[in-house]
Amino acid sequence: MSDLAAALVPPAPAVPARDLPLPIFLFSFLRNTISTYPDHAFELLVGRARVLGIDSLLLNDPEGVRRVLVEAREHYRRPVSVIRAIRPVVGDGLFLAEGEVWKRQRRSLAPAFTPVAVGELIPHFQAAGEGLLRRLEGRAGANLSMEFHTTALDAVLRALFSLTPEDADRDVALIVRRYIAGPGRPNLLDGLARSEDDFAFAGASRRRFRKPWFAAVDRIVAERRSGVQPARRDLLALLLEVRDPETGAPLSDAEIRDQTATMLLAGFETTSRLLFWASYLLALDLPTQARVRAEVRAHPVEAVAGSADIEPWPALREVLLETLRLYPPIANLLRTAVADDEVAGEAIGPGTQVWISPWVIHRHRRFWDQPTAFLPSRFRGQRSPWTGGAFMPFGMGPRICIGAAFAMTEAEMVLASLLGRYSIGLDSRRRVLPVANVTTRPSFEPTFSLERS
Ligand code: HEM
Repeated sequence: MSDLAAALVPPAPAVPARDLPLPIFLFSFLRNTISTYPDHAFELLVGRARVLGIDSLLLNDPEGVRRVLVEAREHYRRPVSVIRAIRPVVGDGLFLAEGEVWKRQRRSLAPAFTPVAVGELIPHFQAAGEGLLRRLEGRAGANLSMEFHTTALDAVLRALFSLTPEDADRDVALIVRRYIAGPGRPNLLDGLARSEDDFAFAGASRRRFRKPWFAAVDRIVAERRSGVQPARRDLLALLLEVRDPETGAPLSDAEIRDQTATMLLAGFETTSRLLFWASYLLALDLPTQARVRAEVRAHPVEAVAGSADIEPWPALREVLLETLRLYPPIANLLRTAVADDEVAGEAIGPGTQVWISPWVIHRHRRFWDQPTAFLPSRFRGQRSPWTGGAFMPFGMGPRICIGAAFAMTEAEMVLASLLGRYSIGLDSRRRVLPVANVTTRPSFEPTFSLERS
């Protein structure tokens, strides 16, 4: 049977037939941003609306997206609503930096994320996968969403900070989970705010998280400064070595903390979502799961020594790419114009908010055949399919995710470990829906059955 005949259409929120009335739109948007896109959003190239007095553009046109994220990117900034929600936990790290400061930061951090550097991290990803198998040993079922959170945090702590689960601070995962489920979600006041400091009273719950979170991050840095040196240079070593090209000054403690916090937060929450959705899809599509298992058994994860050894897992790679298409961990990229511009024939003025939604673009009827179906084979033979403009789970242009290769390699290693040992299924037929606020999380965390095979 061909893939097309067998196509599985996995769960997604119902698509409203037309634009929702404002009160319903706001209510739905705050619960789940991706539940508000009406049917025609998946057909049009550019759409315009005024929401809460803000001129808003939904941009699907690949040329227009390129204009905003690449060619004219100096005319756009991350919007206040996003900054308010994440500044308390990432400070002035790479994600929120702008202009020359951003350029300098990105240049300093890039060496930790090159393909060669990521290839050297493979033993850490292997160790994170082994940790997952140890925790699953002897169990017939597991909450894999939770397990992947632990695994992805473990991978980041090992790979970027040379910390093992024994010496790492496990509170970090708990703090991030609580933040993202609670005060980290953008709220109505974020949408109304015109500056980071507006409605300061409403930021109290976010500020409360700052203290324990930064304390946990500070402990990671303090441990390194106390003298224990890792076997290889890691991200933290790079940060401690960075010098200002003009003054020769090292990064301040606050700068090191902000970068560390940024990488921790950006590095594990998103990848754990990718691991979850890939497992969910494979539990729904058992023939594809069997194909991937045969592949990872033929080239076992223990034998992988460098990134070249991952090449014999093309089916696994296709599944991950298709998962990123159907359930992009970051569902919306937002920019606010700070200057006049023209995009896809639309005049843009300062203050216009541009919505570039991987969720919509990845399910767009003009760009994809059977856009809602799970068809990993559509990515056959495409190792890096991010160039066309219709597939952008890691963003686009100079601010594309610095950790993309890290995330893909980690996900391949962890899933190869899991599927090499277990057949996974779902204990219940209840559909898991994607809910996008900060990242695209499951509507509930199902129990997966685990059968040693
Ligand atoms: C599946 C996993 C991941 C996904 C889907 C993802 C997605 C993204 C996206 C879409 C952006 C661009 C946001 C925008 O332009 O508004 C981004 C930026 C970023 N990501 Fe990732 N990411 C992932 C994993 C990681 C990992 C593993 C790290 C670090 C270890 C990381 C660190 C960052 C940082 C620091 C930025 C900001 C880059 C800059 O502005 O220069 N991400 N990510």
